[in-house]
Amino acid sequence: MEKRILYGGDYNPEQWLDAPDILEKDIQYMKEAGINTVTLGIFSWSALEPQEGEYQLQWMEEQINRLYENGISVIMSTPSGARPKWMADKYPEVLRVNPDRQRILFGGRHNHCYTSPVYREKVRKINTLLAEKFASHPAVILWHISNEYGGECHCPLCQKAFQDWLAERYGDIEKLNKSWWTAFWSHTYRSFEEIESPSPRGESELHGLTLDWKRFVTERTADFLEEEIKALRAGGAKQPTTINLMYDFPFLDYDRLSKSVDIVSWDSYPVWHKREDIETALDNGMQHDYMRCLKKKPFLLMESCPSATNWHKISKLKRPGVLAAAGIQAVAHGSESVLYFQIRQSRGSSEKFHGAVIDHSGRDDTRVFKEASALGQGLAGLGEIVGSQVKSEVAMVYDTQNRWAMEGAMGPRNEDLHYHEAAMKTYKALRKKGLNVDVISETSSLEEYRLVVAPMLYMFHDGFEEKIRGFVEKGGCFVLTYWSGIVDEEDRCFLGGTPYGVMDVFGMRRTETDSLYTGEVNELCPAAGSFLSKTYECRNLCDLITVEEGKALMSYGKEFYQGTPAVVENKYGEGLAYYVGADAEQGFYDDFYAHLMKQLNITSLVAGIVPEGVEVSARSGDGADYVFVQNFRNAATDIRCMKLEGQILYGRNMEELLPYESLVVKAGK
Ligand code: GLA
Ligand code: ZN
Repeated sequence: MEKRILYGGDYNPEQWLDAPDILEKDIQYMKEAGINTVTLGIFSWSALEPQEGEYQLQWMEEQINRLYENGISVIMSTPSGARPKWMADKYPEVLRVNPDRQRILFGGRHNHCYTSPVYREKVRKINTLLAEKFASHPAVILWHISNEYGGECHCPLCQKAFQDWLAERYGDIEKLNKSWWTAFWSHTYRSFEEIESPSPRGESELHGLTLDWKRFVTERTADFLEEEIKALRAGGAKQPTTINLMYDFPFLDYDRLSKSVDIVSWDSYPVWHKREDIETALDNGMQHDYMRCLKKKPFLLMESCPSATNWHKISKLKRPGVLAAAGIQAVAHGSESVLYFQIRQSRGSSEKFHGAVIDHSGRDDTRVFKEASALGQGLAGLGEIVGSQVKSEVAMVYDTQNRWAMEGAMGPRNEDLHYHEAAMKTYKALRKKGLNVDVISETSSLEEYRLVVAPMLYMFHDGFEEKIRGFVEKGGCFVLTYWSGIVDEEDRCFLGGTPYGVMDVFGMRRTETDSLYTGEVNELCPAAGSFLSKTYECRNLCDLITVEEGKALMSYGKEFYQGTPAVVENKYGEGLAYYVGADAEQGFYDDFYAHLMKQLNITSLVAGIVPEGVEVSARSGDGADYVFVQNFRNAATDIRCMKLEGQILYGRNMEELLPYESLVVKAGK
């Protein structure tokens, strides 16, 4: 099959079955806009099974046939994201119980219990039926499992499943008591049956319990997901599977969940035009990179908004050009699709004002429709990019389980630890220099990288210290920051000094950590002989450090620890290790990584300089590299300083980019 970037989005014909003229028009408009793919069936359960056991799949079949006849592929969803009313009424166990142990009423979506045998059976049946009916249809290219999995259930069935999961994990209750440190406050358990999930009405401060509960919620979700897939396979589905993930989602460990599907996809809804657009673009870019690295291969942009996102606090219109910029950005970071929520705007209920390709006017001469069509045309010229990879010599560790542990820990700053911001500072510094960046978890291999940065790696997964050591020993450069290597996988503090197991690698020891009040500032001052020569501000957290074999590059400028080391460099094995002891301002990271790039001879994706407000990325194909250059400024930008060369696949010229304009250049290898 000819390579093509999937272009289209969520389509909900079930809302329009009594309006055949509209459904007809939709197809015509899709073709006009270059749409080649739609996602069907996400919230269709009550149309597919209006009464228990009474299935109506005819309308769906007609839609799929018609789409296929018009050259449009289908991503087929399982409907488990929202169940019909009859099911909730007849089998209340399908509804979730909240942490207060109260069963919630029918309503909303995504509020089903992941353990309920009834719910699992109902999902199994409908999934198998959908597969039997549609898996062999040539239009169906991918299975989209449920929608944006999330949330947790505290019902008795889930409690039992949690206890069983713990029994399996720990083997005996003594081991659990030790791991969770339950002797503290006399919280010792005598058996697994005594354990309950965390609750604001009960146990909420046993950090080991909270952490394991979060792990269990991910495992339960993964187990449910795997059953959904099994049911599809039983019905004959052979296509790959995906789940749509969410922005910086803190409730599930995507690193684990993504293992259960073939392709990662995600839903991107940036808040544009509230701050500098390049800041929004970089923030969104980091998420793209995180999603790509879950499987270290191309992903899909499953949802994005063509205009205003109505669940934002203020639903601002995207300025002209931003629709295309956001779509191209996804492809630049490794997506093989640009898909929207939604193709046709719904008429009523809570998303009636959510942006869509076809709005309530039903016209194809709207600003948004015209922009969507132009992008459809542009993407048609980028088909050869499909299958190419985003390659990077540099990785940043951004780990969900670390975040759970750190944010739940009652430590130095309970107001806000600024983990995301800390990661962003590193990411931005590297991206502004024109580097692709992998965003990985602690479970990833480090082997292929030359530089790995781990901001605030409070929790070391079992053996992570050895991974760092091995990496540096063999010649890698590792940068670790403040508040790292403090606890083990059960959130128990390491004894004998931190960062645990790698003090010799970094040539230093953390002795204490000072927390600064919000707004309070300390300084990082260059030490004699340091490659850094400026003074920078630092905030929030300052580690107090004793240097052993290492060399201090910066010291604190204020407080009782004025003059003591803040940034340390150490040569270890064949490699280099840096410990950055405080939450420094952006300028520090910009200068620090500029130096490391030179030192390690890591080069930018472009020969020249990346101008302010411009994002550059690259994908490598078999015979060519594809360089993406995007202007996220609301002003024309001269890009001659980038010294681009090659054939233009998308865009106008290599001299100047208009506001939000993008350029894709194919360069020979
Ligand atoms: C999510 C959901 C969609 C829709 C959009 C609206 O991403 O998956 O069903 O509700 O939000 O932005
Ligand atoms: Zn439950």
